Amino acid sequence: KKITVTVIKADVGGFVGHTSVHPELLEKARGVLSGSPLLIDFHVTSVGDDINLIMTHELGRNNGEIHKLAWDTFVACTEVAKKLKLYGAGQDLLADAFSGNIKGLGPGVAEMEVEERESEPIVIFMADKTEPGAWNLPLYKIFADPFNTIGLVIDPKMHCGFTFEVRDLIENKKIMFNAPEDIYDMLVFIGAPGRYAIKRIFHRETGQIAAVSSVQRLNLIAGRYIGKDDPVCIVRCQSGYPAVGEVLEPFAHPHLVSGWMRGSHSGPLMPVSLKDARPSRFDGPPRVVALGFQLADGKLIGPQDLFDDPAFDRAREMANLIADYLRRLGPFEPHRLHLDEMEYTTMPMVMQKLKDRFIDLRLAKAQKAQKEKGGA
Ligand code: F6R
Ligand code: MG
Ligand code: MG
Repeated sequence: KKITVTVIKADVGGFVGHTSVHPELLEKARGVLSGSPLLIDFHVTSVGDDINLIMTHELGRNNGEIHKLAWDTFVACTEVAKKLKLYGAGQDLLADAFSGNIKGLGPGVAEMEVEERESEPIVIFMADKTEPGAWNLPLYKIFADPFNTIGLVIDPKMHCGFTFEVRDLIENKKIMFNAPEDIYDMLVFIGAPGRYAIKRIFHRETGQIAAVSSVQRLNLIAGRYIGKDDPVCIVRCQSGYPAVGEVLEPFAHPHLVSGWMRGSHSGPLMPVSLKDARPSRFDGPPRVVALGFQLADGKLIGPQDLFDDPAFDRAREMANLIADYLRRLGPFEPHRLHLDEMEYTTMPMVMQKLKDRFIDLRLAKAQKAQKEKGGA
């Protein structure tokens, strides 16, 4: 029997500002999901201002009924958010009505269908104030870097390596890379996480799914800024897949991701427990939570709040140091993102205002030369 794990997330109103989700919304979401006969099990949680619906069922990926259930849940939560006048109520619901598949309508989706193994440990990562490409570096380390994942070297069931499906988010294309032999080619692309993002990873020997992320760019869908599309990612662990500890290890070194204040800054991704997933300093720095579950015939046994571990204290300290350092740069790059990566900009407005004060130096030089020639 095949079990599908579906994680769908949306920001339908922040409490306070963009920092977190009001408990009444989570209650509402639990209420709606518990009334559904479609699900085997579910878990509702929040990271920053995003509600995460973690659901298990037997209906497969891209199932219209499951997606509609998530959509209806977010619509119900939006009503509560409006009543409480929460900030940005309904902001991620970009369509007026549900139409078959929730992809492209605003919420982020990551789904995997698995033949449940003898024991099926999974880790669900959820981040706030960043973008799907934020998973590129950790996924590369987990599934392709032997300095992170010793299993790639010494576990006979993992020694074959993994296949990466990479998406071009601008041209909407995909390409497969095999690790280890294609890693130099692959890194040319995934090193640019604003454009290329890892969507899925497969075990090379069995062809089975190993990881999946929620890759889509909200700003491209809407054609205007409506919030960074804070991503989620599901990873299978153990016996042939990376161990839980190998899966968590990349987050011990906070890497820089795009997002943070106004979706327009570079900042460290800080691994935190659920209780610390309320980004407040300069609306950040970006956070990531890791919840572990054991699947048992589709039941979600858990969660285990995996970054609630003093062994990640140093990563948090380092993230704070990096944040202090970057904040001193204020509006300068590379803290502030490059012009085409910024989600907010006043550039066209300011440019319009100042256009007559700009002097074209080439033109001025040519005019001067003309005048001198005329005088001679
Ligand atoms: C970043 C984010 C926040 C907002 C910021 C301004 O992803 O959500 O940093 O961009 O709080 O919000 P508005 O423009 O809604 O006042
Ligand atoms: Mg928000
Ligand atoms: Mg968010």
